[in-house]
Amino acid sequence: MQKLLRNFFIRLSTNKFLNQSARKWGFRLGAERFVAGTDIESVTRTIKKMNQQGISCTVDNLGEFVFHKEESIQAKNQIIAMLNKINEENLDCHVSVKLTQLGLDIDQDFCIGNMKEILDIAARYDIFINIDMEDYIHFQPTIDVLKTLLKDYNNVGTVIQSYLRCAEEVTDELRDVRLRIVKGAYKESPDVAFQSKEDIDRNFLKLAKKRLTGPAFTSIATHDHRIIGELKKFVAENGIPTDRFEFQMLYGFRQEMQYDLAKEGYRMTTYMPFGHDWFGYYMRRLAERPQNLNLIFKDVFNR
Ligand code: FDA
Repeated sequence: MQKLLRNFFIRLSTNKFLNQSARKWGFRLGAERFVAGTDIESVTRTIKKMNQQGISCTVDNLGEFVFHKEESIQAKNQIIAMLNKINEENLDCHVSVKLTQLGLDIDQDFCIGNMKEILDIAARYDIFINIDMEDYIHFQPTIDVLKTLLKDYNNVGTVIQSYLRCAEEVTDELRDVRLRIVKGAYKESPDVAFQSKEDIDRNFLKLAKKRLTGPAFTSIATHDHRIIGELKKFVAENGIPTDRFEFQMLYGFRQEMQYDLAKEGYRMTTYMPFGHDWFGYYMRRLAERPQNLNLIFKDVFNR
């Protein structure tokens, strides 16, 4: 049943018609619980609240299924406006981006051009830009774009999905680059991705431990208390300083645990999606945790 629901929501998350329609609906189905704001002003208020609790943020201007250059340019301008805001308000916040939003499916050079404009401004303000990893079709193009950007910038990194069979190889290749380790949110074929939770978790721990003893900063992005517990033990036993890594969780998930980790002295960063393009993001969150379905029922029946 859990697997059926997961596949159902992942399928919905990639439905272009629903994604496009949802932009006009406003937040529905309980999405506001996981989306930190509709615009720069509202997400800034939420970031300030998190910062006051000792939590850093990474902000994501929601948007997928972009096939027109004008939309990518609009997204780039919005990201740049967010960078200006982070700088003006001195927020403890970096930025996460999705390359498909910046034109990866339209023209790779156009996408690189957009990223360079973003990175130039981010570098001026000393802000890190993280490239989220999308589905496997975009995996190699994302790595290719990253490698091109790394020739000129050191304030950019990406995400490694531990469900990918090639994850360790790529992690080794990007040894000196700041990376976020996640389990992986898309439905991928067994040819390219581990399918069982045991394999995915085992690989996550292997990659995270390798990174923690390596030279570059690592974001450990999971809500899994077992993995977090084991890694806390690992860093203590190996004397790994807490400024070498951070824990990351999504906005609206395990909030108490986020505060607790920050209070314990760990660097904690919350991923804050904002904007009107919430549908695909929200459906992937439902796929991961069908318990969140009760939010949909509340939204539908409490009218
Ligand atoms: P998982 O969902 O496997 O849960 C493990 C266990 O933790 C559960 O069985 C339960 O016991 C407990 N648990 C989990 N959530 C809970 C909750 N809300 N309350 C109580 N207990 C809970 N993916 C991707 O493909 N590309 C990307 O770029 C990113 N980026 C990203 C950034 C950040 C900051 C995060 C946290 C995640 C991502 N992801 C991602 C998503 C990631 O790949 C993955 O799908 C989700 O994090 C879900 O997996 P978990 O590791 O959280 O544990």
